[in-house]
Amino acid sequence: MEKTVQLYEGKAKKVYATADENLCVVAYKDDATAFNGLKKGTIVGKGVVNNRMSNLLMRLLEKQGVPTHFVEELSDRETLVKKVKIVPLEVIIRNVSAGSFAKHYGVEEGIVFDEPTIEFSYKNDDLGDPLLNAYHALALKLATKKEIETIKSMAFKVNEVLTAYFKTLGIRLVDFKLEFGRLSDGTIVLADEISPDTCRLWDINTNEKLDKDRFRRDMGGVEDAYKEVFKRLMGE
Ligand code: TMP
Repeated sequence: MEKTVQLYEGKAKKVYATADENLCVVAYKDDATAFNGLKKGTIVGKGVVNNRMSNLLMRLLEKQGVPTHFVEELSDRETLVKKVKIVPLEVIIRNVSAGSFAKHYGVEEGIVFDEPTIEFSYKNDDLGDPLLNAYHALALKLATKKEIETIKSMAFKVNEVLTAYFKTLGIRLVDFKLEFGRLSDGTIVLADEISPDTCRLWDINTNEKLDKDRFRRDMGGVEDAYKEVFKRLMGE
């Protein structure tokens, strides 16, 4: 399926229409941003890693009963996906304290939780993606009660599947962000990407950060971290 007109350009991806109104092509870029676009840069090879990694994980999730937008990998950077309307919620699951959780609650990073947490942000760049709870999401008509329940149970299921899978690669899944979309018939599917841009991934033995925090925090070794995750995923 060939891409036709560009529908949208985001911070890390472009989305194209195809001849089939129910399918789109997503093209992954090497552009990186942080802090709502305030910090900009390039992570060479990131588009390839994020595309191929997301596709591998989406296939795994499909097999485990989580419906996703994934259809077919077209090339290193391009993937055919089902067309969705994105639910404007960023769904964040955490297994270990880090990032904004550590900051908000004044705790160190690395505390392992007894149970995972879930939180929502309103996906709205102009407002800086403010945190909200399910009642706020309902009040703002971002999703229905039933959709929020579906999204919650899918997100926890994704966490179970991915935590176990990353463990086999010697990686601790600290936290991650998911986005969901509605197909034309209203079915909720997992959309967007699952990559070192959207997950915190720590080496299980050394706690070395293998994700975008290296870019956010100017730690260096950004490309090498993405490459390391890719290598482990591809079994090299
Ligand atoms: P946080 O600790 O900064 O709230 O981030 C939680 C997780 O969400 C982390 O794995 C990184 C991911 N994330 C995104 O994918 N996009 C974003 O815009 C932000 C702020 C975080």
